[in-house]
Amino acid sequence: MYLGIIKFVLGVKLLNMKSKVTVTCPSNIALIKYWGKKNTGIQIPQNPSISWSLSDLNAKTTVQYRPGDIRQINFSYDGLVKESFLPKINEFFNRIEEILPWVKNGIFNIDTVNNFPHGTGIASSAAGFGALATALVELENKLNKDTDEYWNKVSEIARLGSGSACRSMYSKPAIWGASEAIHDSSDYYAVELKEPIHPSLQNWKDCVLIIDSGEKKVSSTVGHSLLNGHAYAEARFLQANKNLIELIQVLKNGNVDRFIKIVESEALQLHSMMMSSIPYYMLMRPNTVAVIEEIWNFREATNLPLCFTLDAGANVHLLYNKEVESSIKTFIDTKLLPYCQNATYLCSGIGGKPQIEHHD
Ligand code: PMV
Repeated sequence: MYLGIIKFVLGVKLLNMKSKVTVTCPSNIALIKYWGKKNTGIQIPQNPSISWSLSDLNAKTTVQYRPGDIRQINFSYDGLVKESFLPKINEFFNRIEEILPWVKNGIFNIDTVNNFPHGTGIASSAAGFGALATALVELENKLNKDTDEYWNKVSEIARLGSGSACRSMYSKPAIWGASEAIHDSSDYYAVELKEPIHPSLQNWKDCVLIIDSGEKKVSSTVGHSLLNGHAYAEARFLQANKNLIELIQVLKNGNVDRFIKIVESEALQLHSMMMSSIPYYMLMRPNTVAVIEEIWNFREATNLPLCFTLDAGANVHLLYNKEVESSIKTFIDTKLLPYCQNATYLCSGIGGKPQIEHHD
C-alpha cells in the first residue's frame, strides 16, 4: 500500500500536476446560433456564434486523477455510477489526447451534478463539458488562469466535447467562430467580447419556460449534419455572419430594438433550417408558438424590453432587462404558466464563468 502511495505522489509530482479539483461551470444560450459543422476537423462551425452564459444554470464536476499505466474512467452523476455516459466521455478523452497527451493514461474519477432538475429538457452538455474541460486544464497545472491562453485552451477542449460548450468560459458575451468583426476570433475556441457592453444590455436575465421536458426527437448532432447539402445553408451562414457583426455593434451602442429583432430572427432561422432540412422535422410544439405570440402581444402592449430565443428544442428562453423584472414575473405567472409543462420555468442571471475549487 505504501508503495502505491509513493508511486502516486511521485507520478503527480513529476508531472507537476494537481490530483483533485471541482469546477462549477455555467450553461449558455446563443444569441446568434451555431447550426452546421464544416467537414474539416472536429466540431468546426460553419458560421460564428455569440452567446451569454447563464450564471444560475450550471454543472458542478469533480475530477480526481491518479497516474496509471492505462486509462480508466469512472463516471458518476451525483454519486450514482452512470455507465451509459462512458462511451461519450471516452470519445471525448480520445479527441483531446492531442492537446492533453497526459490523459492517455491514468485513473479518472469523475462525478458531476447539475443544479437544475432532470427532465426539464435543458441541455446540460455545455455546462458539463465546460466544467470537465476546466478541471482537466486545472489538473495539468501548466498555465496561469489570468491569461487568455488558459481560457482558450479550456474552450478548445470543451469544444471537442460539445461545440456550444466552448462558449461557457466567459462572463462577457462569448464569440466562437472566425469573424471579421473580432480580430482574435477562432473556429477552434471561443473568445470574450472585450469592448464594454452598453448599460441598456448589461443587466438582462433569462427565464427558460419549460414547454416540453422530453428527449428531443432529432439530436443536435443529426440536426447539424442535415445542413450538409441543405438548399438554404449558404444563405443562412451569410445571414449569421451579418447578424453577428450587427449584434456586436448593438451590444456596444445599446440599440435594444435591433437587439430584439436580431435575437428573435436568429431563433426562428434556426428552427426554419430544421423545418426545411431533408428529412424535415419540427422541434417547436404548439405551446412554443403560443408563448411566442404572448410575448409579441405583451411587448406591443407595454413596450417593455423583452424578447425570446430558442435552443434546439421546444422550450422558450424569455430574455428581459432586469429593471422590469416584476412586470415580467407577473406576465409569466398570469399569461405564460398555463403553457408550461408542470408550470415549470427556471430563471438565471446572465454572465458567470467556471469557478474552481482545489482539494490539495
Ligand atoms: O453544441 P451542440 O452540438 O449541441 O449544438 C447546439 C447548437 C444550438 O444550441 C442549437 C445553438 C447554439 O449556438 O448553441
